[in-house]
Amino acid sequence: MLIRRPADIRPSEITPADVYAQRRRFLAGALALAGSTLLAPAARAGTPTGTVLAARRNAAYSVTEAPNSWDDVTGYNNYYEFGTDKSDPAANAGHLRVTPWTVTVGGECDLKGRFALEDLIRPHPLEERIYRLRCVEAWSMVVPWVGFPLGDLVRRLKPTSRAKFVQFTTLNDPAQMPGERSRTLDWPYTEALRIDEAAHPLALLAVGLYGRVLPNQNGAPLRLVVPWKYGFKSSKAIVRIDFTERMPETTWARANPTEYGFYANVNPAVDHPRWSQKTERRIGAGVFAPRQGTLPFNGYAEQVASLYTGLDLRKNF
Ligand code: MTE
Repeated sequence: MLIRRPADIRPSEITPADVYAQRRRFLAGALALAGSTLLAPAARAGTPTGTVLAARRNAAYSVTEAPNSWDDVTGYNNYYEFGTDKSDPAANAGHLRVTPWTVTVGGECDLKGRFALEDLIRPHPLEERIYRLRCVEAWSMVVPWVGFPLGDLVRRLKPTSRAKFVQFTTLNDPAQMPGERSRTLDWPYTEALRIDEAAHPLALLAVGLYGRVLPNQNGAPLRLVVPWKYGFKSSKAIVRIDFTERMPETTWARANPTEYGFYANVNPAVDHPRWSQKTERRIGAGVFAPRQGTLPFNGYAEQVASLYTGLDLRKNF
């Protein structure tokens, strides 16, 4: 069982980001003294940087596994707008201008318009939630996000009765995003959720991680986190939110419809056509760590499986 109720969590178990980092540094020092090379991932752990965000831990929506190090979370990324190597986003995203930032809201909703990011975020108290992130490439991490429920924003935007889906669009600016100068993907990057998925309390809009403002490589200033789906559903640097009646096309499904579907629910029973989804490699676990079994809906089945009652998940992958 991955999700614990608040009553199960003692305050002493809640570890602030700085303390994680201190422990990691201590561990790294101890390992260096021991002359270990096999445990190099712990030695790479750095100190979280960036503006501190005031956010309370939401234990009811947090897993109890240890989060990955700051260096893992901010140094091993997928963000094709900045290159296709895992280290490219950290190397190339630093110059992206994330202030001022606006988000345009359109389609089937009452509150359409172009909003300053602060105005979209301000009414929502920020919380920290530790979620598992499972990439379709069969690796995983545990990330302490800071954000607010997407469903709260969706309700504020007042979708019409015709709205069935919500689409998210990433910034399209080849001058700032070097990856967009080549056709690796059909830019801009878009993703979408069914509206009931978007309203599920686990769907999060993240503005930070490790108690700090979101680093550019992780999708600053606003990114989606849908923990029961493969990581590619988590659009970064969101500039548009559109409510639609029809199921929108999404970037990866457009690029390769036999490999990537609309739903992208983590499912060990449905392999990617080129590799198994039964197990995953935990980033930072070390070269000799065994692969772990992948859980249906990434371990969130109890919370989200009912969203898909009656849907054939083999066809709707
Ligand atoms: N968003 C945009 N705009 N561009 C991307 O290439 N990659 C996705 C997703 N969001 C991607 C994106 C994929 S494949 C994954 S696994 C996650 O971001 C990775 O998020 P992380 O780098 O914060 O771990």
